[in-house]
Amino acid sequence: MDEYIVEMKGITKRFPGVLALNNVQLNLRPGLVHSLMGENGAGKSTLMKILAGVYTLDEGQILINGKPVKMSNPLDGLANGISMIHQELMFIPELTAAENIYLGRELRTKAGLVSKKLMIAETQKVFDRWNISIDPSAQMKNLSVAQAQMVEIAKAIAFKSKIIIMDEPTSAITEREVARLHEMIRDLRSAGTAIIYITHKMDEVFAISDEVTVFRDGAWVATDKASNMSRDKLISLMVGRELNQLFPKADAAIGEVILDVEGLTRGRLVKNVSFNVRRGEILGIAGLMGSGRSEVLETLFGIYPAESGTIKVNGKVVKIREPHQAIEAGIGLLTEDRKKTGIMGVLSVRDNMSMAAINRFSFMGVLRKPMIDRECEEQRTALALKTPSLDQQIQNLSGGNQQKVLLSRWLLTDPDILIIDEPTRGIDVGAKSEIHRLMGELAKQGKAIIMVSSEMPEILGMSDRVMVMCEGQMVGEVSRKEATQEKIMELATRFADEAVA
Ligand SMILES: Nc1ncnc2c1ncn2[C@@H]1O[C@H](COP(=O)(O)OP(=O)(O)OP(=O)(O)O)[C@@H](O)[C@H]1O
Ligand SMILES: [Mg+2]
Repeated sequence: MDEYIVEMKGITKRFPGVLALNNVQLNLRPGLVHSLMGENGAGKSTLMKILAGVYTLDEGQILINGKPVKMSNPLDGLANGISMIHQELMFIPELTAAENIYLGRELRTKAGLVSKKLMIAETQKVFDRWNISIDPSAQMKNLSVAQAQMVEIAKAIAFKSKIIIMDEPTSAITEREVARLHEMIRDLRSAGTAIIYITHKMDEVFAISDEVTVFRDGAWVATDKASNMSRDKLISLMVGRELNQLFPKADAAIGEVILDVEGLTRGRLVKNVSFNVRRGEILGIAGLMGSGRSEVLETLFGIYPAESGTIKVNGKVVKIREPHQAIEAGIGLLTEDRKKTGIMGVLSVRDNMSMAAINRFSFMGVLRKPMIDRECEEQRTALALKTPSLDQQIQNLSGGNQQKVLLSRWLLTDPDILIIDEPTRGIDVGAKSEIHRLMGELAKQGKAIIMVSSEMPEILGMSDRVMVMCEGQMVGEVSRKEATQEKIMELATRFADEAVA
């Protein structure tokens, strides 16, 4: 059957305490985009890491062009024409874009010396061909997430991979960049490349895929043409039950102002920002990538102290120059980049969950372990967290489950004001509605929630009020009633055309 470029048969993979994949299959055809769908922890990334040679399989077989292959490391994957763009981007920050692309197979001069010049020239060719406007000699650490992702894609192209795996490639890029990426995917597809696309964004699945495979709890559930699938059918295959309400915004009584920010200023992206939030309110902050949304939150939380401005909590001026001062003032912040500022990879799920509330969990300098266990267990149940135990290192959890642990971390501090940057990035539909329900419930308890989101349906569905940022300034505010996508986009692009990677 060599209509398939890849056949994965009877694949089983175990981790300590977890059956990550149980006898699953996947067949890929050249020149098609195949989406993998499934809830957090379903096994999508694991299966792809096996195909790319990052993990070895416990049982099963992989055929490429009808021939069985053995893969025990990523170089085997590359040698078989397989490239993977990982969910958590992996690159060496100090290297240039060109060096990153040729890492492990550096281009050399005739005399055998590694040649940066050659690599830069070749990279430039690939970038030109694909209309990527990035300087090949720029260091990776100076690139935006979207740019770094483009470089990773260029890497796959430069390798002339016949099979390219993209694991949540659009979780951190703007709509316009998504459109760009999809153009590239269509080009690659016409050239006969098989693309595997993993995302939790339903619209993208329908926009880009030819075929879809659904996994649930490590098991294969279905494979079909995308045109035979509907949104509802996909969701019920993924979660194994009906799910109707995506944005169940509960009505909460809106009370007095709890947080009042005036003239907050720091650098280029936080310019004289003023706003307030009331008890029971969910305030959405919208804006394009790079408009300063996250920077406002980081300044408010003291990650970077403000140059000027005042912050009042419950009418009293508070000094926030460091995060612990924010926590003491009753503020919690769930950051957007869980790898950089969120998770402590080698620590356990329990430690990651409880660390921000450690004051509440200690009594006269002694940790109250049973209390920690009890409350962490409650969180685990409430958020349907998938982990064999609270002792598991958080780095071994699936991407979406790591996000849930971080949310729990802040819920455990019982903050009056909860700031959430991209609350459901990388989170599956089931858990997403669960997190939205939870946000509604917190608001109902009288907490104030500030949410930054790049997903318009989330902004429109969840916010009582939306503030819009553009180039570091608050450019406008719309009420829940008046808020439309058009209105928000108009404000968000007030000063300039969108900055494109
Ligand atoms: N290195 C590892 N060690 C232990 N367990 C792991 C490891 N990698 C994955 N797992 C477990 O295997 C299961 C499948 O995880 P995987 O990352 O494949 O899920 P996923 O479908 O990609 O989810 P998400 O949508 O959240 O990214 C999860 O229960 C996860 O905790
Ligand atoms: Mg994953």
